[in-house]
Amino acid sequence: MDLRLFKNIVILTGAGISAESGIRTFRDQDGLWEEHRIEDVATPEAFARDPKLVQRFYNLRRAQLKDPKIQPNPAHLALAELERLWEGDFLLVTQNVDNLHRRAGSSHLLHMHGRLDKVFCLHCDEHYEWNEDLAVDQSCEACGRKGGVRPDIVWFGEMPHHMEEIYAALDKADYFISIGTSGNVHPAAGFVRLAWKAKKIEINLKDTEISPSFDAHFVGPASTEVPRFIKELLE
Ligand code: OAD
Repeated sequence: MDLRLFKNIVILTGAGISAESGIRTFRDQDGLWEEHRIEDVATPEAFARDPKLVQRFYNLRRAQLKDPKIQPNPAHLALAELERLWEGDFLLVTQNVDNLHRRAGSSHLLHMHGRLDKVFCLHCDEHYEWNEDLAVDQSCEACGRKGGVRPDIVWFGEMPHHMEEIYAALDKADYFISIGTSGNVHPAAGFVRLAWKAKKIEINLKDTEISPSFDAHFVGPASTEVPRFIKELLE
């Protein structure tokens, strides 16, 4: 199969692509959701009820991004290289809120679940970059009011970002590649079915809930499987 015949690529990544960079996944053994209940830290209701706990959860994760040991791994770098060399349309959609794709050099990139390094204000709706801890009584940089600044993360019950653009890209995708995601969370888990005319490839350490919807599987760690697959694609 000459993969270069396929023009438009949509790639979906999940926590598994950042696991080898040292960022914990959600649902694997020792994943974040084993230690925290989603309802306690990842819903608008949790923020209203206990903003201190929610801010602390995201402050720890935001601070981790400054750890010099946390670096893009060969899978992030290979995707950035693919974007540079691919002649058709290219879209990278990530469910991850870390900054590793950007640091690897990806630019046609949509963070559908938000970004750890951004915040927004519930009072004035201004969104801006933020790399420090957030205090519960943080003043908004834009309007100056206190107590409304929250992580720019899509919580359960909220609408993921960029959905129109993502659906349009899936509809014309010739190639859909899903990397390091468990297929547990919608709408991302349904993308494989929306990429109706695409060849569908899954790269993961193991089979997932949505594996039967794919045409081919590469089983193994993203840091070796993704560069190997992309090299083949580009040759
Ligand atoms: P999960 O933690 O649900 O799944 C991680 C997936 O990565 C699993 O299928 C693992 O098998 C796989 N994996 C782990 N290490 C890997 C490696 N080195 N190489 C390849 N694959 C590996 O994470 P997501 O699917 O990203 O949402 O979770 C989706 C959403 O659920 C997240 O964005 C987050 C979470 O709740 C929000 O917070 C809104």
